[in-house]
Amino acid sequence: MTDREKQVPTAETGEEQERILVVDDDPSMRIALMETIRRLGYAVQGAVDGTEALERITKFRPWLVLTDLRMPRLTGLELIKEMKARAPQTAIVLMTAYGTVETAVEAMKLGASEYLLKPFSMDVLERAIANLKAGREEGGGLGRPVHQVEHRALLSQDPGMVRLLSTIEGVASSQATVLIHGESGTGKELLARFIHLRSPRAHRPFIAVNCAALPDGLLESELFGHERGAFTGAVIRKVGKFELAHTGTLLLDEISEMNLALQAKLLRVLQEREVDRIGGRDPVPVNIRVIATTNRVLYREVEQGRFREDLYYRLNVFPVTVPPLRERVVDIPILARHFVNQSAMRNGLTPPVVSDGALAHLQRLPWKGNVRELENVMERALLLAGQGAILPEHCPPERSEEAAIPFVRAAQPANGSLWEMERELIFKTLARVKDNRTHAAKELGISIRTLRNKLREYREGEHSASSLPGG
Ligand SMILES: Nc1ncnc2c1ncn2[C@@H]1O[C@H](COP(=O)(O)OP(=O)(O)OP(=O)(O)O)[C@@H](O)[C@H]1O
Ligand SMILES: [Mg+2]
Repeated sequence: MTDREKQVPTAETGEEQERILVVDDDPSMRIALMETIRRLGYAVQGAVDGTEALERITKFRPWLVLTDLRMPRLTGLELIKEMKARAPQTAIVLMTAYGTVETAVEAMKLGASEYLLKPFSMDVLERAIANLKAGREEGGGLGRPVHQVEHRALLSQDPGMVRLLSTIEGVASSQATVLIHGESGTGKELLARFIHLRSPRAHRPFIAVNCAALPDGLLESELFGHERGAFTGAVIRKVGKFELAHTGTLLLDEISEMNLALQAKLLRVLQEREVDRIGGRDPVPVNIRVIATTNRVLYREVEQGRFREDLYYRLNVFPVTVPPLRERVVDIPILARHFVNQSAMRNGLTPPVVSDGALAHLQRLPWKGNVRELENVMERALLLAGQGAILPEHCPPERSEEAAIPFVRAAQPANGSLWEMERELIFKTLARVKDNRTHAAKELGISIRTLRNKLREYREGEHSASSLPGG
C-alpha cells in the first residue's frame, strides 16, 4: 500500500458520513466512479446490482448511494424503493442517460436526492456529492438538488475584465455597496453572485429582486413585507426580501426601474439599517450588503430627475462597469466552448468541437444581447450541428425579428404580424408537445430561455393590451 492510499479512509475505518456505495453493472464505469470518489477522500464500496447493493448497505452503512438505473435483477428504481423502507436516512443519487429523464423524475418522487444525466464529468459528480454533504450538515435532511445550488463559473481571459475581477475580489470582502453598470446580458447578475461568494457572507442568503419585474405596489411588499391585514388582499403575513437577506447579500436588479417613492424608502433602509413592514408597528433591524445593477447610465437618470441623487451616492460606493462582449472578443471562444459543453452535458450529448471557422465568425458578430445571446446561439448551434463539428453556418446570431419584438409589441401587434405568427407557432408547438417546454424549444430551434422570455412577453403583452384605454 502506498502512503497516499494509507491516508485515505478505508471501508473499515471510514466515519459514518464518509462512506459511499457505488452501484453499477458496468465494471469500467463502476471502477472509474469508485476511483474518483476514493480520491475525494471517501471510503467507497461497489455493488454490481440492486440486490448486491442491499446486502452491502446493511454492513457498510453508507450515507450516500450512487446508483445506475438499468441493471440486472434489482433495478435502480426498485433499489430506491427498497432503500426508502430499509435505510431512509441514506441519500441516493441516480445516474441515468438522456431519454430516461421521466424515470429520473420518478426516482426523485420515490426519494432520490438527485439525478445525474450521463455522461457527466467527474466535476459534476464531485459537486453533487459536496452539495449533498453540505445540505446534510446544515441539517437540511438529504440535501438540495445540485442544479439549484450549483453556482455558475464566471469565465474571462480578457485583460481588462481580469483586472476588474481581481479588484472586485478585494472589494468583495468589505461591506461596500457595489453598483454594477452594463448592457443587458453582460453578466451583471453573475458578477453579483461572484462578489457574494467571495465575501464573508458567502454561506448566508443571496436574495435577488428584479425591480423591473413587478408593478410598484407589489415590489414594495416584496421588499418590505407586510403584516396580515395591512391592505386588502394581505391575508397572510409576508416576510420581505430585506428581512430574508438579513446577514447576507441583497441584489437589487435593474434599480433604475424603481419609482421615486420607493427609492425614498430604500434610502431609509440603507441609512437606518432597519425596515418598516407595511402595516407593521416597529421597525425590524436588518444587516444586509447591497449590490445593485442597472443597464442604464444611472447618473443620467439622476440628471433627468428620475433617480434620487442621495440614493445614487449611497449606492455608488464602488461602481463597476461590465464591458459589452464586443469589447472583449478574446472571451468569445472560451465562452462559446463553455456554453456548448454545458448544453451538451445537460442534454446527455458528447460535446462537439467548435471549428476555428465558427470561432472566427463568432468573434465578428455584434452581440447586441451580449453573453446571454452567445449562450443562446451556442445552444442552438449544438442542435443544428447534429453529431458533427460546429461550423459557422450553425451559428447565426439571434434573429433580428426577435430583437425587434418589444417594438412590435409597443406598436400594438396587428393580425398577421410577425409577432403574431411567431406567437401562434409557439403556442401550437407547446400544445403538440403537451406543454413540455424543453421539447417545444428543441422543436422550435430556440433555447428554453428564449422560449421562457417569449412566453413572458406574451403574458405582459396581454396585460398591457388589456389595460390600454379603450383597447
Ligand atoms: N463571464 C461569464 N462566464 C460564464 N457565463 C457568463 C458570463 N457572463 C455571463 N454569463 C452567462 O450569461 C447569461 C447572462 O448573464 P447575467 O444574467 O448575469 O446578465 P445580466 O447582465 O444580469 O443580464 P440582464 O441585464 O439581461 O439582466 C447567464 O446565463 C450567465 O450565466
Ligand atoms: Mg440581470
